[in-house]
Formats: sequence, C-alpha cells, structure tokens
Amino acid sequence: MGVTVGTLDLDAYVGAADAAIRAASSTDALDAVAAEYLGKKSQLALVQRTFGSLSDEEKRTAGAALQQVRSTLDGAISGRREALAAAERLEQLEADRLDLTEVVPAQVRRPLRRGHQHLISQTQAELEDVFVGMGFTVADGPEVETDWYNFEALNIPPAHPARGMWDTFYLELGDPETVVLRTHTSPVQVHLMEEAVANNTLPIHAVMPGRCFRRDTPDARHLHTFHQIEGLVIDEGITFTDLAGVIQTFTTAYFGPAMSSRLRPAFFPFTEPSAEFEITCAICQGAGCRTCSQTGWIELGGCGMVDPAVLDAVGIDATRYSGFAFGFGIDRCAQMRYQIADMRALVENDLRFVEQF
Ligand code: PHE
Repeated sequence: MGVTVGTLDLDAYVGAADAAIRAASSTDALDAVAAEYLGKKSQLALVQRTFGSLSDEEKRTAGAALQQVRSTLDGAISGRREALAAAERLEQLEADRLDLTEVVPAQVRRPLRRGHQHLISQTQAELEDVFVGMGFTVADGPEVETDWYNFEALNIPPAHPARGMWDTFYLELGDPETVVLRTHTSPVQVHLMEEAVANNTLPIHAVMPGRCFRRDTPDARHLHTFHQIEGLVIDEGITFTDLAGVIQTFTTAYFGPAMSSRLRPAFFPFTEPSAEFEITCAICQGAGCRTCSQTGWIELGGCGMVDPAVLDAVGIDATRYSGFAFGFGIDRCAQMRYQIADMRALVENDLRFVEQF
C-alpha cells in the first residue's frame, strides 16, 4: 500500500505521470504533461494547499513525500525532454539536408528560360540574308575611325558645312578631332575600295552592317548608338536604274509585296546624284498616319551614285568604273517591321519587350 497524502495516492500519481511522460511524443506534449502533474493546478499543488489543517509533524512527513514525488517527476521529465530534443534536432537535420541526387519531375520543374538573339541582331541577320540572296557579300569595318575614313575620303573636307549632318563623338587620341566614333557605315566603303584597288579585286558588290554613333538625344525615332547597313556596288556600266531596282527588290523581299519604295532628291557629299529612300509606312500601309506625318511614307536611308571624287580619293578609275551606294537604319527597319512605337525600347533591355521577338 503506497503513501497517501490527503486523498492523493502518491505511487499511483507517480505511475500515471511516468506513463504520460513516456507517452509524450514532442517537447510541447511534454510541457503539457509537466503542467498537468507538477503545475499550479496539478493535484499535487492542490493537496499541498490543504496542509494548513495538518500538525507540524504530519506537515513534515507529507511535505517530504511530496518533495520526493516532485524530484522523481522532475528527473523523469528532464530525461524525457533531452531525448525528445535530440530526436527533434535529428529530424530538423534530416529535413534541412540537401539531396543532391534529387530528380525533380518535369511537370514540377520551372521551365528553363533559354536566351535568344536580340531583335536588332535578328534584323541584321535577316537583312544580310536578303542581300546575300541578291548576290552581295557581307563585310564589316572598325567602329573607331580616323577623320579620313569617316569624312575626308567621302568628299567631306575638314570644316566643310556638310559635317553638320553628323553630330560627331570625337575620341581623345592623337591630334584633336582626328579620331571619331564612326557616324555612319560609309567609311567601310572606303576600306573596301582601298582593298579592292590594292588587291586588284574590283568589282565590288557588298553590304556592310554595323554600329554607328551620333551625338543625338535619344527619342522615339533616334538613338545615339544605332545600326546601319551600307551597300556598295562598283562595276563597269552601273547606273541609277540599278540602284532603284536594288532598293525596290530589297523592299519587297524584306517588308513584303505590299510595300513600295520611292527615291526623293537629296544631298550627300559622297554621292551624286543623291536621294533619300522612303518606304510605304508600315503603320498605316500608306494611308497616312501620325508616325509618317500623314505622308504614307517613312524615310529609311540615303543613297546615290558614288561621287567620282570618292573614286579618285581611293584610286579607282572613274572613267571606267561607276557605282552606287546606300545606307539605312537597321533599328528603323525593325521598328517598321514590328511597329515599335518608341525605338528606345530596343536598348532598354526590359525582358517584357525583348522576349516578344
Ligand atoms: N551615310 C549616310 C548617312 O548615314 C547614308 C548614305 C549612305 C547616303 C550611302 C548615301 C550613300 O546619313
């Protein structure tokens, strides 16, 4: 028969508490068991509160017995607590473990985003394809040029008023205003003609795409860094009709049969006669809209018959050879083809824009 204090059978109490402690499967559950058997509202605490009616002797015996129960249960609880905490730590470790062999099923996996060529590069490649299909070769040249290639060999001497057509970035290399970021792709014409003369490989039928730079404030139709594609044909018996035919053939090949081209008189120091070439406005199909200022036409670039002064500058016999040249904006082509309201979107690298093409 165990010790009884008041109405509490201590052995039975300890037995029940022990069973509950062993059954607690988490530290939270164990906290609840501890409160139930040792807390302020436990039977143990209630019995203790009835001690007032006992004699001193009885108090001492009963108090010692209850203290014994407390320390037994305290010991059992902290033992169980350690075991549970160790198990929980292990569980956490297991949960945190990175399984490097894990295979994520395809339907759960986030699709990998594959990059692709920027619209400008795509457009450049397509334009090259169109011209290669017409028998042109593709060439390129440096983005940094001397004044000779960018201007002088193109019949634009220093201080010539026509230089105002190109707001130029100068580089601080050598004498002031002698090295420039090319303002157009026309200097590549000069390189090609010089090489053809040096290697005796005339005629020339080539296009030259590339990046150009001008001190322009960017707006909906202009960028300070933009792309042009230059065309150059130097051969015997080349006439303006050949130029017009190439421009028209190109226009329908790239923009489709609904689009036409037209030439309007213009001035460039390196071509004579010169023209601006315009295509049907893609936004309104020629009907007239705000983008084309109600004209139905959009200017794409310049062109003309190579000025004999340019042939002279590179040592080509202008009495035997003639040729034509043209140059137009690649970015402008993309803008027309895809009806991009503001050209600055091409260089802002906003994925929501870039991924549409
Ligand atoms: N280089 C000229 C420009 O950028 C365009 C052009 C090229 C004009 C070839 C005529 C011939 O403005």
